[in-house]
Amino acid sequence: MPASAAREVVTGVEYVKQITAMESDRRTRAAFQTLVLSIVRPGGTLFDFGAGTGMDARFYAEHGLTVAAYDVDPNMCEFFSEYCRELIEAGRVTFDCGGYREFLARDGRDGGRGVDLVTSNFAPLNLIADLRELFVKFDALTGPGGKVLVSVLNPYYVGDMKYGWWWRNLIRLRREGHYSVQGSQAPIVRRRLAEFAAHSAPYFTLKRVFPGLPSIAGGGAQYAWLCIIRCLFMFLLFEKSNHGIGAAPVVSGPSSISSKNEARSRAKEPRR
Ligand SMILES: C[S@@+](CC[C@H](N)C(=O)[O-])C[C@H]1O[C@@H](n2cnc3c(N)ncnc32)[C@H](O)[C@@H]1O
Repeated sequence: MPASAAREVVTGVEYVKQITAMESDRRTRAAFQTLVLSIVRPGGTLFDFGAGTGMDARFYAEHGLTVAAYDVDPNMCEFFSEYCRELIEAGRVTFDCGGYREFLARDGRDGGRGVDLVTSNFAPLNLIADLRELFVKFDALTGPGGKVLVSVLNPYYVGDMKYGWWWRNLIRLRREGHYSVQGSQAPIVRRRLAEFAAHSAPYFTLKRVFPGLPSIAGGGAQYAWLCIIRCLFMFLLFEKSNHGIGAAPVVSGPSSISSKNEARSRAKEPRR
């Protein structure tokens, strides 16, 4: 994947066409959705940040979850409203579209008890410059025991090592914890795990790291990091903390995503 996306912002119908064209993307989405269903309680509530065209929102609602969603892009929102129309009418899905600053400022729980899980699939967080204020918002959106599961671009992805920009930014990644390259919608920020952990604190603790594509690599816990570097995306699970930075996250092997019991036995401590 090049450092920056195509010059034009790809949204709506064209986005669906592109994101469903490749087998690897379809498998990555399926892995994320499976993980979501293994984390959230049956009949639970979920907030999808950067929801795009509503592919995930629809899937979650069809699996019995109550879904609220937000995206900043008007074309994505238009597609979403049509694609999830009957679920919106039935009250299974609610959708918010508008300016990002207004989204951050809006009263989080809408008078309710807060959602069980915030999700964000296919890297919306890489388009956010300031993660700290977003995690403050995630804190406001979630109820007690709430979790956040995000799919983010993997800065260690071997497939990107063929690009000059990857090597040029390596020192910055090590030294500053992140670097950004020009994107069509916003700068694309790639971050080390330690930066995600630091910027989610004190509201959340980064608990687990899952490889984005479970089926391309075999093996178990001892190969966890090998699996991670072979994936363009990694899935990060944060848990609401009692305002303290927790222990290092656990990096999970590939088969853990299809497991319902979080595959504790297949995990090992990572170096960050
Ligand atoms: C690669 S798409 C992923 C869409 C969707 N989650 C999916 O799985 O297909 C990234 C999405 O993040 C959205 N996005 C970018 N900046 C955002 C922001 N500040 N707030 C909310 N959404 C944003 C984009 O509009 C786009 O829909």
